[in-house]
This record gives sequence, structure tokens and C-alpha cells, in this order.
Amino acid sequence: MHREDFPMLDGNIIYFDNGATTLKPKRVVDAMNRYYLEHTSNIHRGDYDAAIQSNLAYDAVRDIVARFVNCKSKEVIYTSGATYSINLVVFGYMRKHLHKGDVVLLNKAEHASNVLPWIKLQEEIGIDIQYIPLDENYEITFDNLVKVVTDKTKVISLAHVSNVIGDVRDVKRIGKYCRENNIIFHVDGAQSVPHMKVDFQDSCMDFLSFSGHKMLGPTGVGILVGREELLEEMEPICYGGGMNSFFEEDSSYELKSIPVRFEAGTPPIAEVIGLGEAITYLEEIGMDNIHKHEMDLKDYFLSRVKEIDNVILYNNNSESGIVSFNLEGVFAQDTSVYLNHYHICVRAGNHCAKLLKDDMPVQNTVRVSLYFYNTREEIDVLIEALKNSKDLFNVII
Ligand SMILES: Cc1ncc(COP(=O)(O)O)c(C=O)c1O
Repeated sequence: MHREDFPMLDGNIIYFDNGATTLKPKRVVDAMNRYYLEHTSNIHRGDYDAAIQSNLAYDAVRDIVARFVNCKSKEVIYTSGATYSINLVVFGYMRKHLHKGDVVLLNKAEHASNVLPWIKLQEEIGIDIQYIPLDENYEITFDNLVKVVTDKTKVISLAHVSNVIGDVRDVKRIGKYCRENNIIFHVDGAQSVPHMKVDFQDSCMDFLSFSGHKMLGPTGVGILVGREELLEEMEPICYGGGMNSFFEEDSSYELKSIPVRFEAGTPPIAEVIGLGEAITYLEEIGMDNIHKHEMDLKDYFLSRVKEIDNVILYNNNSESGIVSFNLEGVFAQDTSVYLNHYHICVRAGNHCAKLLKDDMPVQNTVRVSLYFYNTREEIDVLIEALKNSKDLFNVII
């Protein structure tokens, strides 16, 4: 779908690395160029026409994001990406509200960005990190989650969609459970927000983090959505211009209201505008259409991959466009180097989920992550390449 909107698809590549970052449609780059070429200026500072134009374009994106994930505009914080968003949750909110011995539930399929900040907080204040056991498919079940909750559990933080296994966690059910049990619920939406309808309010989320560049937007911009009452209680982790009302020689100061309180310094203006354009474009295509197309492609891949006997699949069941596999006896990175000879872009490695090796039989996998501009024909090329992989070492050496 919509391949003509993506200049990179004019070239000779098959892009299956959408979990790492997506391609950019021309209209996103055009929107950013308009800012750079027609009204470059800082925001919320100037009184001249170009500055006013920038203010309008920049501020409008907060409403676009709010509409897209169903939250209030003042609950939308611009960050540099999902990683920064999660760090803001952990060091802005949790550091102030958690105490020694409080339990934070994670799981071993999480990306480094949703583990390491917690480990650092554990080092600082002694929170107790525990891991929800994964089932035999390396997925989280609601029952497994509930089994490990105690009255010490204060936070559940998990990816809506795991970036390796691609399982879609039941955030609506988990969110309701958390709300009923006074547990703070943080959702890492880096792999879900670009691919399916995500509803912050309906899923009773307290915090939601995601990145612009994985959803057709530019690098360097992301979003943290936080429930208004919690944001009022959250501390900034970065201080400077744009976020204060005053400061005095006697060190008194006052911060602006949420959300700009968390956006010190000149923000990524062009990137925010680009993200707004990306979201508008995604809405025009329709998130349900996107998800349906990805599932169709994934099912097609699964049906065709059966033709090859040396492929080991790790996540047949997942309900997203992420497929993780290996060729029997072949190191994952050798497979990705081999596929590059067919101009096929995939990702190989542990995908930053470095604890998953404790549960999986392998540390590294090849990941195909699909998006709406991928096609069955591209999957045919991948299948043919994998079929020919008996000569893999001749090709890559
Ligand atoms: C599930 C998940 N969370 C967080 C991140 C971090 O995103 P970023 O590097 O854009 O901050 C990624 C990136 O791959 C991811 O897949």
C-alpha cells in the first residue's frame, strides 16, 4: 500500500527492518523542509510572522498526538524518543514516589530502554525489580502476571508489543487490573503505536512512551503521555529555558505548567512538525487497515516459509508483523549479511532484549518486521533467498 509515497522504495531494496526504524514518506520530509526553508525560527519566543507560523505548526502537533492515542493535549510531552520518555518516567516520577522494597514488575523480553533505567533506580533507592515469567512461547499471559503481583507491587512496566517476539500484550485487561489495584501502569508503545490503534484512556494507562522515527516520523523526537494528575507530581529531569516562569538571585524559581515544564531548551521543532505530518498520514490510511495488512503479510510469510526445512521460527503465534527466526546452524548475522546480497534489509542480533536469552534457546535471531508498504512479492523474494541459503557461505565470503 502507498509505496509511491516513499522515495526509498524507488530504489532496489526490500525493507523489512521497520522495528528498528521506518522509511519516511516524502510529505513528512516536505513538512520539515517547509519549516526549515520558509519559516525557520525558534518557538514561543518571537513576535514576528515566521515565529508565529512556527508556534502554530509546533503547538498543533500536541492536539494531533492527543487525538491519535486518545489523551488530553496537556498530557503530551515532546521528548527525543521512547528511551528518553521512559527515563523521564523513571527519574522524574518513580524516583520521587517509590521507596526501598517497592516492587516493579518487568519481564525478560523487554528492550534495554525499559530495563536499564529501572536497574539504575534500583541502585539508587533499592526498588525490587521482579520479572513476570514468560510462557512456553516467550509471551506474557494475564494469569502469569497476576500470579506474581503482591501488595508490594507498585509498578508494572511493559512493552505493548515485544520487539523480538512480537506478541501483543493485553494492555486493556492489564490496565484495568492495575487501576483496580493501585498499580502504576507504564506502557512502552514503541512497537505498537506505529502499527495499531492504541488508546491511552481506554486501556487505563498511566504513562505511554513511543518514538517518532518508528512511525514514519524523523529521528530525534518521541512522546511521553502521562496522566494529568501524575504529571502534576512529576519532576523535570532537565532544566533551562522555556520551562520556567521566573528564577531569582535567592534561588527561588517557578516552573511553567505541564507539559512544557518537561521540555527545557529549544525543542526539536522540525522533528515535532514532521511527526505531526506522519501521524496525520497514518490516520488517513487508517490504523486498522495497517494492522490488517501486516497480519495478512505475516500469515503469507508463515504459509510460504513451510516450504523451507531449515528455518527455525520462534514466534509463529504473535499478532503483529514481527517474525523472528534463524536458519539451522547459521549465526543470525551471517543470515542478514547474506540477505543483503538480495538487497533485503533485516535485523540480526539480540535486538536490545538482552535478558531474553535466559528463556530462549538462542541469544540472536533474524528479525523481519513488516509495515504497510511491504508486499507479498517482497516476501516471495525473501523466501527464494532463504531457499537458496544452502550456498550462504559462498555468497558472503
Ligand atoms: C520495544 C522498544 N522499546 C524502546 C525502544 C527504544 O526506542 P528509541 O531507540 O527510539 O528510543 C525500542 C527500539 O527499538 C523498542 O523496540
